[in-house]
Amino acid sequence: MERAETAAESPTPPRRHRVCVIAGDGVGPEVVRQGLRVVNAASRADGATLDVEELPWGANYYRETGRMMPPDALRIVEEFDAIYFGAVGSPDVPDDVSVWGLLMPIRKHLDLYVNVRPIRAFRGVRRPHTAPIENVDISIVRENTEGEYANIGGRVYADEREMAIQTSVFTRRGIARVLEYGFRLATDGRGVQSVTKSNALAHSMTLWDEVASDTAARYPGVPFERIHVDAAAYRMIVAPETFQVVIASNLFGDILSDLGAGLIGSLGLAASANLNPEESRGLFEPIHGSAPDIAGRGIANPVGAILSGAMMLDFLGDSSVADGIRRAVAQVLEGGAGTPDIGGECGTVELADEIVSAMHRQEVPSQEVPS
Ligand code: NAI
Ligand code: MG
Repeated sequence: MERAETAAESPTPPRRHRVCVIAGDGVGPEVVRQGLRVVNAASRADGATLDVEELPWGANYYRETGRMMPPDALRIVEEFDAIYFGAVGSPDVPDDVSVWGLLMPIRKHLDLYVNVRPIRAFRGVRRPHTAPIENVDISIVRENTEGEYANIGGRVYADEREMAIQTSVFTRRGIARVLEYGFRLATDGRGVQSVTKSNALAHSMTLWDEVASDTAARYPGVPFERIHVDAAAYRMIVAPETFQVVIASNLFGDILSDLGAGLIGSLGLAASANLNPEESRGLFEPIHGSAPDIAGRGIANPVGAILSGAMMLDFLGDSSVADGIRRAVAQVLEGGAGTPDIGGECGTVELADEIVSAMHRQEVPSQEVPS
C-alpha cells in the first residue's frame, strides 16, 4: 500500500510548490475544490505550502472568447511546478473543440508522455459485479502523446462520398520511452503486461511488440507478457488480479483505465498523473470527464481528484504527505462513507470532510487520542 504510484525521481523536497489549477467544466470545479482542500490540509500539516493559481479556462472561457484558453496558455502553464486539472467538456461545446483546445495541447506541448493511472481496490466499496477484486492493484501506463490520438487526418466531400481518414502515429522513440517507464515502475517486484492488437493492426502494433520485447530483454527480472487488447478487456473483468503494470497505447490505455475504474466501483475513484519524468513536468487529473449528467448537484465523487492531488505531491517530493492522504481515503471508504456512485449518501463536500477528518486523526499520535 505504501508504494509510490509513479516512478518519477523524487527531487529533494522544496517545501513550497507553485501549482496552477485548471478546474475546467462540469464536475471538474466541484471535485478540484475538494481535492485542493485535502492537499492543502495535508501539506500544511506537514510544513509544506502550495502556492495556487487558478486559471479560468474551459467552456465558459470559450463562450466568452471563442477559445478554450488564451493564445499564450502553453507558455503560462510552463511556469509552474505542476498542473492540477479537473475535466473539460460541456454539452454546448463540441467535444473535439474542448479536448483539442485545452487538454491535448498541454499534454503535447509539455511532452507529458506517460499517463499513469492506478487502479486499486478499496475495501468497503460496493461494486456492480461479484468477481473478487481484493487484490487488484494495477498501474495502467498509457502512452500519452502519439498513437491513435496523434490527431492527423481529415474529412473530404460533404455528400454521399464523404470520408474521414484518421491516422495513428507510432514512433520507436515514443513507444520505447513509455515502455521504459513502465518496466522501471515494475522493478518493485511486479510484472508487465504490454497490451496491443498486433494481429489486426499489423504495422503499428508489431513495432510496439518488437520494442516491448527488446525492453523486456533489458529487464530480465520483470515478468513480461504480451496480450491483445480484446483479451485484456475480458481478462480484466474475470481475472483482474493477473494484471500489475499494464503498458498500452493512448487509446487502449484510455479505455482499459475506464474499465479498471468500473472494476473497482466507479469512474469517480480513479486518479492519474501525466508525466514527463526527464523534464520534471506533470499534470494531475482524475481520469473521468466533466460528467454533465451529474454536474451542479454536489454529488460527484471527489476521490479521483483527491488521489490525483496525492500523486501530485509524490511528484513534488512530498510522498509522506501523499501516503497520509491515501491512508485517509482508504479508511473513509472502508468505513462505508461514499457518494451515490458507490452506493453512499454523502455529497462531494461531505465525503471530502470525512477524508480531512481522517487525516487529522492520523496526525494525533495514538497515545493522545482521548479514550
Ligand atoms: P465522464 O467521465 O464525464 O462520465 C461518464 C460517467 O461517469 C457518467 O455517468 C458520469 O456521471 C460518471 N462520473 C464521472 N465522473 C464522476 C464522478 N467524479 N463521480 C461520480 N460519477 C462520475 O465521460 P463522458 O460522459 O463520456 O464525457 C462527458 C464530457 O467530459 C465530454 O464532454 C467529454 O469529452 C469530456 N471528457 C473530458 C475528459 C478530460 O477532461 N480529461 C476525459 C473524458 C471525457
Ligand atoms: Mg477516458
